[in-house]
Amino acid sequence: MVESLQGRSVVVTGAGGGIGAALARRFAAAGARLVVNDLDADRAASVAAETGATAVPGDASAIVDEARDALGGTVDVWCANAGLASGGTEAADPEVWAAAWDVNVMAHVRAAQALLPGWLERGSGRFVSTVSAAGLLTMIGAAPYSVTKHGAYAFAEWLSLTYRHRGIKVHAVCPQGVRTDMLTAAGSAGELVLAPTAIEPEDVADALFTGMAEDRFLILPHPEVAGYYAGRAAEPDRWLTTMNHIQQKWEAGR
Ligand SMILES: NC(=O)c1ccc[n+]([C@@H]2O[C@H](COP(=O)([O-])OP(=O)(O)OC[C@H]3O[C@@H](n4cnc5c(N)ncnc54)[C@H](O)[C@@H]3O)[C@@H](O)[C@H]2O)c1
Repeated sequence: MVESLQGRSVVVTGAGGGIGAALARRFAAAGARLVVNDLDADRAASVAAETGATAVPGDASAIVDEARDALGGTVDVWCANAGLASGGTEAADPEVWAAAWDVNVMAHVRAAQALLPGWLERGSGRFVSTVSAAGLLTMIGAAPYSVTKHGAYAFAEWLSLTYRHRGIKVHAVCPQGVRTDMLTAAGSAGELVLAPTAIEPEDVADALFTGMAEDRFLILPHPEVAGYYAGRAAEPDRWLTTMNHIQQKWEAGR
């Protein structure tokens, strides 16, 4: 059972739009005291004004102390939501690979490094990782995204199994397509794989709140992902052949 969020201190990174903004609105509606972060200061300010939050713009990796100070020294819930939809193959630019690691994985690690000592001391804290179904499966045409989202999932899983007996709750939110700027930017692969079953950012926020109430680690706003994930584990070659058919369909349509 999730404790009341009334008066709890919550940080959402990458909350200037899309899923992060929907999470911020949902936490604000639940009575949380909120910090809204985004690299884009204007978008952060706009969502902060709408939700009664404090805007702390900047890179998600660099704002942990400032966000905590803005909330009076304590963070109850950290939503590591900022992400980069880094497409490309193994040959993607080194800068693309580095940025994907930095935002999609290391921002989560850095937040945990700053938060865990206090959380372990008081025996409570909640870490919400916006991963992706690409962290459980794989996204066509996007090696840096798929690899780093697997990393984000692995880190969330590691946090959960390491600290669950010490009062730390972790949630890995793994949607497929969500109608945000990121889906638009995903181009033809997004059109083929994600758009047909895309949901709204508010649906992701609803799924997180249901998952928190049920104390679930893995949160699947698209329930069918559970079946794909099970199929991948049970029959890897069959799963890879199916995915390769999608790859070929994508190549033929480009
Ligand atoms: N849209 C989808 O289909 C989808 C599906 C699965 C997972 N996700 C994940 O959901 C999260 C949110 O994505 P979205 O769809 O809302 O995308 P979005 O592009 O609408 O929002 C992402 C926000 O993060 C901000 N941002 C980027 N880098 C940042 C950084 N270093 N520090 C702070 N803010 C930064 C951007 O300015 C933007 O406002 C991402 O982690 C993404 O990988 C999205």
